[in-house]
Amino acid sequence: MSQRLPKNPAFDFRKYQPFAFAPKLNDRTWPDKQITQAPIWASVDLRDGNQALIDPMNIEQKLKFFKLLIDIGFKEIEIGFPSAAQVEFDFTRRLIEDNLVPDDVTLQVLVQAREHLIDRTFEALQGAKRAIVHVYNSTSKVQRDKVYQLDKEQIKQIAINGATMLKDKAKNYPDTEWVFQYSPESFSQTETDYAVEVCDAVCEVWQPWLGQAVILNLPATVEASTPNVYADQVEYFCRHLKHRKDVIISLHTHNDRGCAVAASELGLMAGADRIEGTLLGNGERTGNMDILVMAMNLYTQGIDPKLDFSQVSEVVQIVSECNNLPVHPRHPYVGELVFTAFSGSHQDAIKKSLDYNEKHQETDNHWDVAYLPIDPSHIGRGYQDVVRINSQSGKGGAAYILQRHYGFDLPRWTQIDFARVVQAQAETLARELKTEELLDIFTNAYLSQDTFHLSDYTISNRGGEVTFQGQVASPEQVFEVIGQGNGALSAFIDGLVKATGRQIHVTNYAEHAIDRVMRTDNETGNQTNAAAAAYIQLAVDGQIYSGIGTCNSTVSAMLKGALSALAQAW
Ligand code: KIV
Ligand code: ZN
Repeated sequence: MSQRLPKNPAFDFRKYQPFAFAPKLNDRTWPDKQITQAPIWASVDLRDGNQALIDPMNIEQKLKFFKLLIDIGFKEIEIGFPSAAQVEFDFTRRLIEDNLVPDDVTLQVLVQAREHLIDRTFEALQGAKRAIVHVYNSTSKVQRDKVYQLDKEQIKQIAINGATMLKDKAKNYPDTEWVFQYSPESFSQTETDYAVEVCDAVCEVWQPWLGQAVILNLPATVEASTPNVYADQVEYFCRHLKHRKDVIISLHTHNDRGCAVAASELGLMAGADRIEGTLLGNGERTGNMDILVMAMNLYTQGIDPKLDFSQVSEVVQIVSECNNLPVHPRHPYVGELVFTAFSGSHQDAIKKSLDYNEKHQETDNHWDVAYLPIDPSHIGRGYQDVVRINSQSGKGGAAYILQRHYGFDLPRWTQIDFARVVQAQAETLARELKTEELLDIFTNAYLSQDTFHLSDYTISNRGGEVTFQGQVASPEQVFEVIGQGNGALSAFIDGLVKATGRQIHVTNYAEHAIDRVMRTDNETGNQTNAAAAAYIQLAVDGQIYSGIGTCNSTVSAMLKGALSALAQAW
């Protein structure tokens, strides 16, 4: 009997309306544009990200995070809201007084358009070589009508007042190179014409055309439309702003609909220069735009992201320590499972692609592997997790692990045979099989047979005819094996047929040297220096059996392999 969830009468889509702030843009150009270089990145981890934490960072955590951002290569870092809390003020002072800001890095701080807060902000920044003061006020319809209950003119006036105060107060600190940033907060839910009008008014105050550095930041404070609509808003804004060429256009997207990265990417195509976001996407509600993901998206297109994510595990560790937030195992690029294939067909395709690349590395060294968008080693991740085995896995997966970890290059027919053994075991245990368990299963299935023991044998060759002579002991009896053939294996099989009276044919055969440090002994399963592996498929009385042998010499490995197959028929 299926158990139904109780209905929630509040679940009612009719309470919502389609997005109403898309500008009319019939001749949009952004869909034909391509991103060809990294934007100016600005991390807002220490401000927007921090404001969204259950326990905001203390100074030591902020310092640790700041150093990480520097190591990664950020040149613009919003470090906090110094007028909002003492710890924010103190952190700003600490960075400046202890000279912790490299010359090529600019501090950014946020402030509301209110005089006493602006005063306190400049106080916090005293002594900085270069700083971005970021002032904002909300411009969206819902904020105007319901939160502030002010009309468009009055809201614009708040922006003009803020810009004026910034300009005037900055004059008191002439030793600092000031950059002014303005955000029409909730830009994405603001009529775009009105956002342009407010930003034009702010520019009239700051006069960027006379040399004042100005950033206009366009927040999707709440993501409320599809990313293409945000891109239209950005293109419309850029085309209608009076002094577009004199300002930097910055984007700041949130992830309410799960498309913050896409929105920033399309917004960049639509003409923006700069992107704000956080590492791993921490931020209010569903978070800010994830800079790591966007940067790595550029990387996978062959574009230098200008941020160094070559050691993502360290980045994840520091970020999650400071934010005290876990990272989802499927988080793009960094999650524990993102380079792992469980599905058999995926594993097979990965193995084949990697094998192909290994053979063709001289002619093409670009990364192009089925199901693996990037080479995990490029970001400091190992290959050990690329393939993991459970009951969904297939022949390629187990073969991949045996090859990568233990140096066994299983031919296709052995892969098929072994996959059956592995699947049965995974189904019995109803869980994932670890790499070492897989080796145990492999060893038990093929390498550690103790049905037969071969002893006192000789192989001679007279004019191309090979003779095998030796003893094979089973628990019941000892077989005197004497046979002839055109090689050692065929002579041995001929002898076995004669000695046992069974119909035995070799149906498949393969061998290779084991050139890995890790080698596994045929008899005991312990690691040894066995140098060769032989794969033998026998038809015994019409049934097919696969066996594997390892030894120091190819011939002994081959004989052991034949006995490994025969043991299964016994
Ligand atoms: O999301 C937002 O609108 C902000 C602004 C203050 C830029 O964080
Ligand atoms: Zn924000």
